[in-house]
Amino acid sequence: MTVRLEQLRRCHFAVDLGAARTRVYVKGAGLVVDQPSVAAVNTRSGSLIGVGDFAEQMTGRTPGYIRVVRPISGGTVVDIEMAQRMLRQLLGDKIRRALRRNLRLRAAACTPHGADPLAQRATIETLVGLGARRVELVDTLIAAAVGCGLPVERPEATMIMVCGAAATQVAVLSLGSIVTAERVPVGGEAVDQAIVQHLRLEHQLILPSQSVRPLQLALSGNGLNSQGPASAEINGRDVATGLARSVRINTAAVRGAIQTPLTAVLDGIGKVLRACPPDLVADLADRGIMMVGGSALLPGFDQMLRQATGIPVHIAERPDICAAQGIGAMLEGRIEPLVLNPLVA
Ligand SMILES: Nc1ncnc2c1ncn2[C@@H]1O[C@H](COP(=O)(O)OP(=O)(O)OP(=O)(O)O)[C@@H](O)[C@H]1O
Ligand SMILES: [Mg+2]
Repeated sequence: MTVRLEQLRRCHFAVDLGAARTRVYVKGAGLVVDQPSVAAVNTRSGSLIGVGDFAEQMTGRTPGYIRVVRPISGGTVVDIEMAQRMLRQLLGDKIRRALRRNLRLRAAACTPHGADPLAQRATIETLVGLGARRVELVDTLIAAAVGCGLPVERPEATMIMVCGAAATQVAVLSLGSIVTAERVPVGGEAVDQAIVQHLRLEHQLILPSQSVRPLQLALSGNGLNSQGPASAEINGRDVATGLARSVRINTAAVRGAIQTPLTAVLDGIGKVLRACPPDLVADLADRGIMMVGGSALLPGFDQMLRQATGIPVHIAERPDICAAQGIGAMLEGRIEPLVLNPLVA
């Protein structure tokens, strides 16, 4: 997919619909929404109770008639109507009114690399329902690379790794386009899931979903490295009795459990490097890999990659919002189009 910068410059707003978080960039106003992609619905009346942070706090704590739903799953909009309702609510009346003033409202959206036509259609439909007359799609990998300031337009290789919630995407870019790329359906959610499974199997403990992040922090000192504390105390619910219980867990064993999803990511990086022309691989040995996406913040992930690949690994300044910032920069016209000077005969 090549980016049509002139078309993007004419867009009024851009969205990055992620499995974990939804981000909206409005031209001239910046990033106006960065909230969880969650909606809480009253199943009796069908009405929306809350969205974003408010709805996420309700997860696992609702009475029977309230259902917490995620209209975006695996990087794809799976419930178009709910995604539209969630977006309307997240945008709020003021921004929606401002957007409606544009008679021919144009929108842009990030799509995961290699998204199938059905997934692309679902994203477009969602935005058309919000009033957009035309929707431009931009590959997340390109948006993220632009957002973290990589010199994508130069004839040098840059490697980017987008670590999302549902998937990890890796690519080598040169001259403004993707040379090779891989999408591994393993992300932050799979890592959290591996921790939850491990505790259930080894300690017969059910961990509330909100406690996974504190556990990851407990694993650092240095997270996935072996320099962190040897054990950590955590609270959960006993599988058999249903009562609250606290156990002391061995952090090395948890690190072992996380290895399985992380190996899949390493495999993806290997595939991209093998498919990459040798000249570009030489560039990468100096420049290294740039990590973006929320899961890039997983403690010690960068160090693990450094050890496994032997090339430098950097984390972007604000890894979680790089893609939204990148697509925003394209809307604002801050990205110069690539001009290839034809040779004068
Ligand atoms: N400080 C942190 N430490 C570890 N993991 C984190 C941290 N902050 C966010 N995450 C993880 O990052 C993920 C969210 O990242 P991001 O916002 O890039 O996802 P997304 O764009 O919604 O997902 P996708 O692009 O896969 O659709 C979540 O799985 C979350 O657990
Ligand atoms: Mg994302």
